[in-house]
Amino acid sequence: MKICMIGAGYVGLVTGSCFADLGNTVWCVDKDEKKIVKLNNNDIPIYEPGLKDLINKNFLSGRLKFTTNLSLAVKNSDIIFICVGTPTSNKKGSANLQYVFKVATELSRYINKFKIIVTKSTVPVSTGDKIEKIILKKKRKNLFEVVSNPEFLREGEAIRDFRFPDRIVIGANNKKVIKKLKSLYDPLIKKGAVFFSTNRRGAEIIKYASNAFLATKISYINEISNLCEKTDVNVEDVSIGIGLDKRIGSRFLRVGPAYGGSCFPKDTKAITFTGDLFKTDLSIIKSVIKSNEKRKILLAERVKKILSNKIKNKVITFLGVTFKPNTDDMRESSSLLMIPYLKKKGAIVNYFDPSGEKKQFSKLKNVFYYDDIIKACKKADLLILHTEWDEFKALDFKKLSGKRKFKIYDMRNLYSPLSMKSLGFSYHSLGR
Ligand SMILES: NC(=O)c1ccc[n+]([C@@H]2O[C@H](COP(=O)([O-])OP(=O)(O)OC[C@H]3O[C@@H](n4cnc5c(N)ncnc54)[C@H](O)[C@@H]3O)[C@@H](O)[C@H]2O)c1
Repeated sequence: MKICMIGAGYVGLVTGSCFADLGNTVWCVDKDEKKIVKLNNNDIPIYEPGLKDLINKNFLSGRLKFTTNLSLAVKNSDIIFICVGTPTSNKKGSANLQYVFKVATELSRYINKFKIIVTKSTVPVSTGDKIEKIILKKKRKNLFEVVSNPEFLREGEAIRDFRFPDRIVIGANNKKVIKKLKSLYDPLIKKGAVFFSTNRRGAEIIKYASNAFLATKISYINEISNLCEKTDVNVEDVSIGIGLDKRIGSRFLRVGPAYGGSCFPKDTKAITFTGDLFKTDLSIIKSVIKSNEKRKILLAERVKKILSNKIKNKVITFLGVTFKPNTDDMRESSSLLMIPYLKKKGAIVNYFDPSGEKKQFSKLKNVFYYDDIIKACKKADLLILHTEWDEFKALDFKKLSGKRKFKIYDMRNLYSPLSMKSLGFSYHSLGR
């Protein structure tokens, strides 16, 4: 099929490359000219495992193209995916839909024959209706159909998630269009993905309700871990004990820092805003948001305690600063609050992250990036294991610490408290 992806970010680039790999012809369009120049030179603007090779292979085959020319891409496509960002727009937390609506306005100019317009961006319920209205200002109804196809991929595992999704959700009010999209996804359905169709508004809510539910699970185990810490119980055991109940399931019950990333924080806020708009108090999700905010402070305060309230001039080394491993995405990572907080209290913060230096910290005085774990740890008084990259799972702490014996704060429970104690380290983790 002939496809156009508008927005070559984490979602558009990955899904576009994967669609091309299934044999479709895909035009990836972005308004960011620098990004398109990079992509045309096989310089991939984001870090996602396996993406570079996938893009290179399909670019060379001619099935994957990159352009800033929306008109050209639209004319050459039958199915158009909107994959632009929908960040949080104001203090109340609604989704900023300006990029989506701008695309809709542009599309209304360029549609020349029947097109299926698919919203992959995460958008509040009834946005599809608004997109349709915008296009109807310039084009007749029989020239297009607006569909919702929410994306569930996870950064860091995005290619695998595209290829082996649990489900593919299509929200459309037109049976023919559902059939066409089902055939686009047929190679994945044949491998076991469940195809589920509902109406457009239903699909829009499914996406937010899924993310809010997962965020709830994370916040739930994080709060339970606070209780475990006070009662001398191991939260890992509690996670297993809860998760073995098939009605609950074991996934997303791992304790950690506040949830972050480009989706959960903004989507939980946006759905509660939508709830208020439709006079529905989504009180559970509202308290999840509060609990997550509190957690950022709680863990930062805990650092103070570990250092006996003497932070000034202490060297604190962060291993990992991204919100999760295998991505360079810093959006809403809890390190964005913790590092400036500790720096303000007088600490010298070193950090190492396998995805490289972060512009968010480059202007902060006394915050230093190292491209080498050993150097980053050299003078540390406290080591914070913030993100569970594989390279942090079997560290030689004796070698890293030397005779100084730094303290360790393991925010991912990667190590056993007993073995760390036997190595002679002051080791702190979560809920244990
Ligand atoms: N990142 C994820 O893990 C993930 C997962 C599922 C769903 N989503 C949703 O998918 C959407 C996209 O997320 P993302 O992380 O890929 O965003 P992103 O910020 O990485 O990418 C968005 C891209 O859209 C481009 N863009 C904006 N306006 C444009 C226009 N008018 N024409 C062409 N290009 C334009 C931007 O330049 C940018 O490259 C969001 O709604 C997000 O909530 C994201």
